Amino acid sequence: MTTKTKPFILHNGIKIPPVGFGTWQIPNGDIAYNSTLSALKAGYRHIDTALAYGNEESVGRAVRDSGIRRNEIFVTSKLPAEVKSYDGALISIEKTIKNIGLEYIDLYLIHAPWPWSQKGKDCTKENIAIWKAMEKFYESGRTKSIGISNFNVNDTNAILDSCRIKPMVNQIKMHIGHMQEEISGHCRMNDILVEGYSPLATGAILKNKDIADIAAKYGKSVAQLSIRYVFQKGALPLPKSTHPEYIVQNLDVDFEITIDDIRYLDSLT
Ligand code: A2P
Repeated sequence: MTTKTKPFILHNGIKIPPVGFGTWQIPNGDIAYNSTLSALKAGYRHIDTALAYGNEESVGRAVRDSGIRRNEIFVTSKLPAEVKSYDGALISIEKTIKNIGLEYIDLYLIHAPWPWSQKGKDCTKENIAIWKAMEKFYESGRTKSIGISNFNVNDTNAILDSCRIKPMVNQIKMHIGHMQEEISGHCRMNDILVEGYSPLATGAILKNKDIADIAAKYGKSVAQLSIRYVFQKGALPLPKSTHPEYIVQNLDVDFEITIDDIRYLDSLT
C-alpha cells in the first residue's frame, strides 16, 4: 500500500498506517537495523517490534537515523507474554522505552494472554491487573495507544468488562485459510482494530498453487495477493521480510481483489 492509502483510525482518534513492517524473527544488530531502514525508505511508516523479539534497540536506532520526522512514523512494541504482574509490566515498559530510545511509542500491546510455555492457561486475573499498568502508561502520554495480542473472545471480554480505557487493537495471526473470524468479528463489534501478523503464514503460503493462480490474474505475487486479502478483510497486515526487494513489493498492494476471488480465497483452508 502506498503512503497515500487512507490510514485506519483507532477509537481514540489516532491514525495508524494501513500496512506495518513486521520484525518478528529479525535478529538484532545490522539485519534489524538495515531491514527497518529499508522499510522506511520504501515508504512504510509503521514498524512493529516487541521486547521479546530482542530487536527493539536496532529498530529504534533505524527510526531515529531515518531522518523522517518522529510524528510521521508509527512504532509498536509489546509487553512480553511471560510478564503477568502489574509491577513487572511497569518494569518492562521502562525497558522498552530505553531500548527503543524514543520519547514515546505509538502502540503498546500485551503480547499474549498467557506465557508462551503455558498456552491456553487462564490468566484472567493477571491480565486485568496488567491492563491497569497499560492504562497508566497510556495516561502518561508515553504511548499513544494500547491494546492486546493473541487474545480470544473470552480474554478480550475480561478486559472489556473491567477496563477504564478500552483496547484499541488486537493483533492476531491472520492469513488465507486462517482468518480467525470469531475473534475478528468480536473485535470489529467492539471498535477494536484487528492487526494480522504472519499474513504469509511465515512463508508457508508462498508455495500454494491455488493462491498463485489467483495472484497471476492480477499480475501480482502470492505475497502481494495475500497481504491485500488481509487488508480487504478489514484487518491491518504486518508482513515481515529482510530482503529489500520483498520489502518494497509488500507495500505495493494498491489493487482490488474482486468479491468472487475473495470468496474463493475464503474457501481455501
Ligand atoms: P525473508 O524474511 O527472508 O525476506 P510473514 O510475514 O507471514 O511472517 O512471512 C515472512 C516470510 O515470508 C519470511 O520468510 C520472508 O522472507 C518471506 N517473504 C516476505 N515477503 C516476501 C515476498 N514478497 N516474496 C517472497 N517471500 C517473502
